[in-house]
This record gives sequence, structure tokens and C-alpha cells, in this order.
Amino acid sequence: MREVNFKIERLPKALQEKFRELYANENGNEIVQYLSPNEIYLGDARQLLPQIEPNSIALSIWSPPYFVGKAYEAHLSFDDWQNLLKTVIHLHFRIIKPGGFLVINIADILVFRDPSMPGIQAEAVNRRRSPVTREDVLKAMADHPEYNRYQLAKLLKCSEQTIDRRLNGNNIRGGKYGPQTRVKIVGGLVEEWALSAGFYPYDRRIWVKDPAWENSRWASLSYRSVDEFEYLYFFWKPGITRFDRTRLSADEWRNWGSRGVWYIPSVRVNDDHEAKFPVEIPSRVIRLLTDPEEIVLDCFMGSGTTAVAAIRENRQYIGIEILEKYVNLARQRVAAEHHPAES
Ligand SMILES: C[S@@+](CC[C@H](N)C(=O)[O-])C[C@H]1O[C@@H](n2cnc3c(N)ncnc32)[C@H](O)[C@@H]1O
Repeated sequence: MREVNFKIERLPKALQEKFRELYANENGNEIVQYLSPNEIYLGDARQLLPQIEPNSIALSIWSPPYFVGKAYEAHLSFDDWQNLLKTVIHLHFRIIKPGGFLVINIADILVFRDPSMPGIQAEAVNRRRSPVTREDVLKAMADHPEYNRYQLAKLLKCSEQTIDRRLNGNNIRGGKYGPQTRVKIVGGLVEEWALSAGFYPYDRRIWVKDPAWENSRWASLSYRSVDEFEYLYFFWKPGITRFDRTRLSADEWRNWGSRGVWYIPSVRVNDDHEAKFPVEIPSRVIRLLTDPEEIVLDCFMGSGTTAVAAIRENRQYIGIEILEKYVNLARQRVAAEHHPAES
């Protein structure tokens, strides 16, 4: 196990306890064979993270399932999803170097089903085909209290669906009788899980990507914006952190190193993995927060983007991915980095 290079006694009491527990367990139950760097492992992050050498990871950067119904997360309930992320974050505390970072790329859940949310009483003015208003229907009901909706429709020369919609409001997201959907803001959850693991929120940045118009068929019937940005949350493990302004050039500091908003186009061709992030995301974070040869971890490795960035930046990497097809893809991408001519 690597040495701890700072004074535990200087930390808040609760954190001192956490550190002591951590090292006590490790000595009592030492894992002899740790995962080697520069490999991509097939398996569940929750099973494999405990096999990484303690205090060895300078930076862990990953983008987890977002709970938006992708094939690789479709089996998860919202509780499962929260447990997955919370467990993975907690497992990081042992393996990140003191003074090192955990960076999470995640987005709010824009279409989150919430059965407790009242139906939105939306009136789509531009799209309304029938000129009949809610007031017309209410007046007809007052004039003819004995009429059912079919008779009201006949009277007002419209369909009974129009009567229904004028009375109940249009449910414009999630189907007429489906539960309402709302935005689920995930930053607070991630912050809570990281704090309870022993990390401190250090920074947050916005990644502005391409606007996803094609996923927003409701955009013309609501005041919601299209999906076009995600977050990068930086968490710090207490310890000694090296600050080296020469890691980036003056231009790079000005253009992105010191900037809170990063404009980076999305990966346009997602034909081999449905949710890749651009290499530029891990590359920037790696260059900002680590030195050459340090180990970078991605435990939701997907197509291997973080490994590619690590190789290009002359860092070591460890990758973990649960689906074999993506492990194979990631290994191919790694091989292509080492032997570009053969790929
Ligand atoms: C958002 S994608 C990451 C994409 C990656 N950043 C890239 O550029 O290709 C999340 C990945 O996590 C994987 N995954 C889901 N649950 C996992 C788990 N419990 N352990 C390890 N990997 C998991 C999925 O198969 C998926 O490839």
C-alpha cells in the first residue's frame, strides 16, 4: 500500500476516523494482487474497485449511466441507480491519492417520471385545431348540465377528445395518461454522496455540447430548453495537492484551464457506443489535474475514451466496464493508439 504523505491529525475529526478505519481494514485484510495499470477490466465497478491499490489513483474521471433509459441501464430502478452511484463514489475514497481528484461528468435527468406531479394544464395555442375554448365547454355544461361529453361535442361541433382536453388539460409529455415528467436535478445527490464518502466539492464546470433537437419533439409545445449541456463535478480528497501552472500554456489557461464553461462538440458518430464523451473532456481534466505517468481511472469506461486520452497525455490508466462488447471496443481503441498504422 502506498504511503500517506500528510498529517491525518490535521483533518476534521470525522474524516480522521474514516482514514483510520480505511487503513486498519487494509492492513488486516491486505489484497495482494491489485489491478495493474494500463489494462481494461471486464466487470462491475462495485466488484473491481476494491481490487485497486489504495492511494494510487491521481484522478478518476467517468461518466456513469445517466438514468435516461439507455440499453445498458434499462434494468435499473431509480433506487438501483442511486445505490450504484453512491456505492461507486464511496469505493473511491480508499483508492484516490490524498490530494487527488474524482471528476464526474453527469447531466440532469430531463424527462424524469414523477407520478406525484399534477398534470400541466397546457393550452397549445398555435397547434389548436378546434377553435372551441375551455370557457365554451364550461358554458355549454352550465347550459346543459344533463349532457355527456358526446352530446357536448355534438353541440360544439368538435370531437369528444377536444372536450376532454379542454376540461383536463393537455398532457403534453409522456402520453395522455402516463405520469407527468419533470427535471430531476442530480448535482445535489452527487454532492451528498461525495461528502458522505469523505470528498469535498472543489469545482464544477459546464460542458456545452451540441443541442439535441431531435430528442426534443415536445420543444414546440413547452417552455423547456433542449438538451445541450452537462456538468463536470470535481471532488477533492484531502491531502497534499501539487499546483503546477506550467501544466498548461498561458493560452490554454485563458481559453479553458480557468474557464467554467467548456464548448466542446458532442461525438457525432455514436455508432459503436451510444453515449461516448469526446476525448477532449478527459484530456483537459487529465492535463489540468495530473502529472505524466500518474494513474487515471475510469470505472464506467464504455468505448475507452479516457484510456485514449491518458495514452495521448502520457499517463497510465485503469479501465473498468461491465459489458464485454465495450471492453473489446475499448481495447481496440487502445491498440489503435499504440499502433495507428495497423488499425
Ligand atoms: C455513459 S457510458 C460511458 C461512456 C464513456 N465515457 C465513453 O466515452 O465511451 C457508461 C458506461 O458504463 C457502463 N456501466 C454501467 N454499469 C456499470 C457498472 N456497474 N460497472 C461498470 N460499468 C458499468 C455501461 O455499459 C456504459 O458503457
